[in-house]
Amino acid sequence: MDHFIYRNGILHAEDVALPDIAAAVGTPFYVYSAATLTRHFRVFDEALEGMDHLVCYAMKANSNLAVLKLLADQGAGMDVVSSGEYLRAKAVGVPGDKIVFSGVGKTREEMELVIKGGIRQFNVESEPELYLLSKVASELGATVPITVRVNPDVDAKTHAKIATGKSENKFGIPIAKARAVYAEAAKLPGIEVVGIDVHIGSQLTDLTPYRTAFEKVKELTLELRADGHDIRRLDLGGGLGIPYERSNEAPPLPMEYGQVVRETVGDLGCEIEIEPGRLIAGNAGLMVSSVIYRKNGEGRDFLILDAAMNDLIRPAMYEAHHDIVPVIEPLAAAEQTPVDIVGPVCESGDTFAKQRNLPHMGDGDLIAFRSAGAYGAVMASEYNSRPLIPEVLVMGDQFAVIRARPTFEEMLNRDKIPEWLQN
Ligand code: LLP
Repeated sequence: MDHFIYRNGILHAEDVALPDIAAAVGTPFYVYSAATLTRHFRVFDEALEGMDHLVCYAMKANSNLAVLKLLADQGAGMDVVSSGEYLRAKAVGVPGDKIVFSGVGKTREEMELVIKGGIRQFNVESEPELYLLSKVASELGATVPITVRVNPDVDAKTHAKIATGKSENKFGIPIAKARAVYAEAAKLPGIEVVGIDVHIGSQLTDLTPYRTAFEKVKELTLELRADGHDIRRLDLGGGLGIPYERSNEAPPLPMEYGQVVRETVGDLGCEIEIEPGRLIAGNAGLMVSSVIYRKNGEGRDFLILDAAMNDLIRPAMYEAHHDIVPVIEPLAAAEQTPVDIVGPVCESGDTFAKQRNLPHMGDGDLIAFRSAGAYGAVMASEYNSRPLIPEVLVMGDQFAVIRARPTFEEMLNRDKIPEWLQN
């Protein structure tokens, strides 16, 4: 569910008409609904009710400080993967003991920053990382709580670029090797083993891979406890999918996911952490763009937009589908014809959708991409020297720019011409 609906024939974000935002900030822009964000967080929180738990928002999905503040105010913890993300969590007041640190390539500098600033746990992904962490922690006179991320070799049945739980992926430690790695970890100074971590992929639309992975985690918990480790925390990762194509997709609900958690690992007496990103932010955001030209090509029409692959890369990168709708509601009887929806960037990959049925749209019309709140703005670039597009947050009838479009002057000033090139 989200709060983007047509009212009086105009698409709104909560109580704000999108053309009003377009008039104020120009297109293209991202717009997020505060009510949707908080609702999605609460749905996860409620799904784990009755179990000791913490929902750690995976901020890689959308790390705008305003979004983080909104979720932190609801009590969210954060899952971070870099110093930058850690500092964002801190900037909105999330205490270290609600931040988990994930990622396969944590550097010494990142370890130092995070240990000094306070951390709930490191999710360790390899033996070399474990040794370095032990060294860095010892040097700082600290003992850091860790889980080891295990790779359960489960097929998440999602896009190859976002599947992480197969043995061929770079993530985690093979579950078969886990006991040996935990034995090693227990001996190391500066390290305190507290639990197990698993994350098998993103945009999962079936609960079966979760069930399989969590059952393996349960088995491992019992084995590790028998080996003498105090396993008291399970980080089950994120990955629950959202309906990108509303007409024919209905992924499982957080409630049903919570039920799988309960049925598999609910009786272990462990504190449960989850790291959802997409489900919290995805359907809480739109990207709004304008049609620059409608071009009649050979046998097909193109809508050339002012947004491009650099603003929303998911279609180009993952062949991802986003529902695309006119901001002015078409009449029910309006004829739909297929068009290719493209951006102005100089490569054919800059295509958002091919032969998508849409009512007639022409130059200057506003168009909205649904489900763009996660992995949209955060993956944007300035390719073709196109400024990063602004982000807007709506709450009720108010809206605010939460990241402004840079000026061309700001963009150009970031580059420096060396003295020896100046004449
Ligand atoms: N935890 C870990 C360790 C992760 O690697 C990820 C996502 C998450 C949690 C959050 O997963 P979510 O709940 O958002 O599915 N850019 C891609 C998605 C990459 C996901 C990477 N890891 C996309 O646009 O589809």
